[in-house]
Amino acid sequence: MRVLGIETSCDETGVAVYDTARTGADGLLAHAVYSQIALHAEYGGVVPELASRDHVRKLLPLVRQTLAEAGLDTADLDGVAYTAGPGLVGALLVGAGVARSLAWALDLPAVGVHHMEGHLLAPLIENDPPKPPFVALLVSGGHTQLVEVDAIGQYRLLGETLDDAAGEAFDKTAKLMGLPYPGGPQLARLAEQGTPGRYRFARPMTDRPGLDFSFSGLKTQVLLAWRDSDQSEQTRADIARGFEDAVVDTLAIKCERALDEAGCDTLIVAGGVGANQRLRAKLQAMAQKRGGRVCFPRMELCTDNGAMIAYAGALRLEAGQREDAQVKVTPRWDMATLPAV
Ligand code: KG4
Ligand code: ZN
Repeated sequence: MRVLGIETSCDETGVAVYDTARTGADGLLAHAVYSQIALHAEYGGVVPELASRDHVRKLLPLVRQTLAEAGLDTADLDGVAYTAGPGLVGALLVGAGVARSLAWALDLPAVGVHHMEGHLLAPLIENDPPKPPFVALLVSGGHTQLVEVDAIGQYRLLGETLDDAAGEAFDKTAKLMGLPYPGGPQLARLAEQGTPGRYRFARPMTDRPGLDFSFSGLKTQVLLAWRDSDQSEQTRADIARGFEDAVVDTLAIKCERALDEAGCDTLIVAGGVGANQRLRAKLQAMAQKRGGRVCFPRMELCTDNGAMIAYAGALRLEAGQREDAQVKVTPRWDMATLPAV
């Protein structure tokens, strides 16, 4: 089954085609992402109305481009998947409107995909994909969750952030040290030059049992450290390193705890912060130590993309799930309410 996937939940327009006749990375026939970063940069964050309008401009050309790259015509498609939530309502409506209209015009089944399920399944688009049961760490700009996955579509929330998401903490911390939007990757790059150990910040909520996170206090610690410092380039890098180490350690401690709780040794990691090299290395080391396995998507599939939506949608379409012919989105959506596949 060849499924067109469309992602427009935030500031990336993503389109892909996944073919379930193949497995892992081989099934991904083509994917393209158009990032709106430059559009929002001058505002220091995503402006929802601008995001929606840009999706309107970019989506259909990106669909044509992706089909051309896959060497396919619309007649070769067997289904359409689109992000139905969570996300910005206007942005979601653009993707849902286009996806639903295409499906109707081409007489194809369509399914709305949960954005975080898309992220969660992205590591399965690689070769030798892991099979459930596993624990998933979802770390994006909007979410930080540990999820126990017994089967695809069966998600039990083990823990989540009580305030800022990990990516949000990266972005806000970067901003308060004067880095341009989106700060996460820039802060990580700066941390490369930082002296480990010169600044040590707390590992929030690791000193008590439980799998929840809290990252907002860390941002305040950084603010105080930065304000009281000489604000030199080296100090900025050193603070960035201290901050990154604190977030990475905290995530790794909770991941190990979640694996223990779930009685499982396979961890999958997805979402934008999954692109962080120090996090990848730390979790690899942790998994290796316990004789387990950690799986990441390739870098470009960590952040928002159409491939994960095509893949998640293809699994659900193959299982016979489809949506009525209406344009409906769910900006707030609990993943635990999803039907099993
Ligand atoms: O999954 P994603 O593309 O969008 C959401 O669904 O939120 O994640 C974006 C987040 C941003 O907060 C960004 O700063 C963060 O992922 N991010 C990183 C890195 N690359 C992206 N955070 C830390 N290190 C990175 N290398
Ligand atoms: Zn995302």
